[in-house]
Formats: sequence, C-alpha cells, structure tokens
Amino acid sequence: EKNGFDSFMLKEIHDQPRAYEDTMRGRIEARSTIVLPGIELSEVQIRGLKQIHMVACGTAYHAALVGKTVIERLTRIPVEVDLASEYRYRMPVIRKNTLVIAVSQSGETADTLAAMREAKQWGARVMAITNVIGSSVAREADDCLFTLAGPEIAVASTKAYSSQLIAFYLLGIFMAQSLETLDQATQIELITMLERLPAQVEDMLKGNMEAVRQIAEQIAGHNHLFFIGRGLDYSLAMEASLKLKEISYLHSEAYAAGELKHGSLALVEDGTPVIALATQELLLEKTVSNIKEVKARGAYVIAFALEGNTELEKTADQVIYVPRTFSLFTPALAVVPLQLLAYYTASIRGNDVDKPRNLAKSVTVE
Ligand code: M6R
Repeated sequence: EKNGFDSFMLKEIHDQPRAYEDTMRGRIEARSTIVLPGIELSEVQIRGLKQIHMVACGTAYHAALVGKTVIERLTRIPVEVDLASEYRYRMPVIRKNTLVIAVSQSGETADTLAAMREAKQWGARVMAITNVIGSSVAREADDCLFTLAGPEIAVASTKAYSSQLIAFYLLGIFMAQSLETLDQATQIELITMLERLPAQVEDMLKGNMEAVRQIAEQIAGHNHLFFIGRGLDYSLAMEASLKLKEISYLHSEAYAAGELKHGSLALVEDGTPVIALATQELLLEKTVSNIKEVKARGAYVIAFALEGNTELEKTADQVIYVPRTFSLFTPALAVVPLQLLAYYTASIRGNDVDKPRNLAKSVTVE
C-alpha cells in the first residue's frame, strides 16, 4: 500500500499532483469559472460579508495563514486567523455577517470543533475545509469545501496541507466572482495557472531532488536552525519548520525575515543553517538584505528562489529553484522540496518518519 515508497509520507508527497487534480476536478467550468456545489452561501451573502475568521490547528493553521493572504488579496474582505485552541477561549468578536472557516484534514480535531461550535453559538455562519466527508467538522458546518487529497496516513501532513491551499485558491476566485473584484481576463489567467500546478509538481518530483537530499545531509548534524521569509514565504516557513521539527526532532524556528534583528539574530553564529524562502518577487530585495544580515553573522544560507532568479547565488551558499506561477500559488509548489527536506533529514537521523514520537495523527482530545 506504500506503492513501492519506503514510507507513507514519501508516497503522500508524490501523490500531490493527483490530489491537486482531484481537488480541482469538476470545480472549474469552461476553464473560466469556479463552481463549488458544497457551498450554499449565496451571492448576496458573500457580498454582505464583513469579516472572515479562520480557525485551525498545526499544519491546517499554517494553510489558513496562506488562505488569509489569498482571500484578502482576491476579495478585499478582512480575514483573521486563530489557533482553534486560542479562539475558543478568547471571546472573539463575532458580528453579524461574520463567516468562520474551520480548516481540518481529519475533521475531528477537538479544538477546531470546539472553536466552530463557539462561533456558531454567536451566530456566525461556519464553513468547513476538510478532507473527510462525514467527519464531525463537515457535519456541523453550514458549507463544506472538501479537499480530495485521499486518506493521509503519515502523521506529518503533506498532501492535505497542499490540497487545502488549492481549496483556498478555488474559494478565493469563487468569492471574487460574486464580488466582482477580478476582471475576466485576470480570472482566466489565474485559472489557467491553477490548472498547471499538478504538472509543475510532477516535474519537480521527477526533477533532481538530490540537491535537497544533500542539504538534508548538511543540516542533519545541527541542533538548531532558522527558516526565514516574508509574506507568503513567512507562512510557508512556519509550515516547513513544523514539518522538520515534527519528524527530525531538530529544533528550528520560523521567523519573519524583517523581525530577526529584533531579537533572534542573537542566536545566529558561525555555521548556523538559515533556510531563506525568497519566492515572493515583490519582497525579494528585502529578503536578500536579510540574507546578507545573517551571512554577516556567519550563517550558512540555503535559499529557495524562483527559477531565473540566479542573482541569489551571489548571496546565498546554495539555491533551490521553484517553478514560476502566479505569486499567490507559489506556496503550493515551494512546499514540495521543503517536505522532502524534512523527510530526508528525518530518515538520515534514523527516525520513523511516519510515526514521530509523542504525536498522534488525529488529536481528538483537548
Ligand atoms: O486533522 P487536522 O487538520 O485538524 O489536524 C491538525 C493538526 O493536528 C495537524 O495538522 C498536525 O499539526 C500535523 N501532524 C502536522 O504535520
């Protein structure tokens, strides 16, 4: 059942092109319109939305952070993202016309369920983005947007996270249709690029991932490292850092690149690995100056950049390239080598990549 792979995690990483295709299937009409039958929210209701709250835990929370940028950019509706365990106890301000989106692979996470129940109690409409049809989260939500990633066995989430990103892209464009925030030409362009993602992931997986394995060899012996990035790269850095910690047991921290000099830069010393995510073109120059900052303190920098941005080779010690797409979609590609980095590092350290210590696949208790 591992399809010849040595672990479920590696199998699931390779299953992503299929998961993206299934999540998009039947939801794109005439290559120009998004249709989401599980969402009953009407056009008028979408136009009336004042705010969106997203609640989730762990990796799903990191997907929601990307989702916030996607929804705000495409719809201009303000979005707040909360850890479900915080949201349920913080007395969130839920006004009329608040939509709460619960994101959960399993649909059974105790805190996520409690957060959505809390929201419902205050009169919010609740939408679920989940991978399990018939799960508690799906049953209790008013609207459902299913990711069709298929069963995820490895404790470390890979294809469920990336399929959640696809769900947010679909939802963002879907809402923009009601709000008329995208012109027709841009919408068609976005959908075209969305449909190209599965093949791009496939190419990345077929391409030379040996470079990623070599980086894993280099970092596997360290005790501590940083991921840095700005904007969507910061959200992705949090996910990459969690993945690495979860299965390799290395300590790592994700930092907004611009925040480093407000404290954590003190931890960077000779040889400290810093993984710099620099896939957001508009922020590239800023991230490059942060790379120079850590380099000046002796850091060993591994950058993840868009194909063609070879100037990074002058600043970073190593560069891994990610194919180009629409900027909001980049995390759905850049996450792949980062998942592999976690996978290789854990294997090199001799860990059970599918069943990390102390963790369970589904957290059904508080
Ligand atoms: O099933 P859920 O998406 O609600 O699970 C949430 C987290 O427990 C989960 O994403 C966890 O962080 C993963 N093990 C991370 O790889």
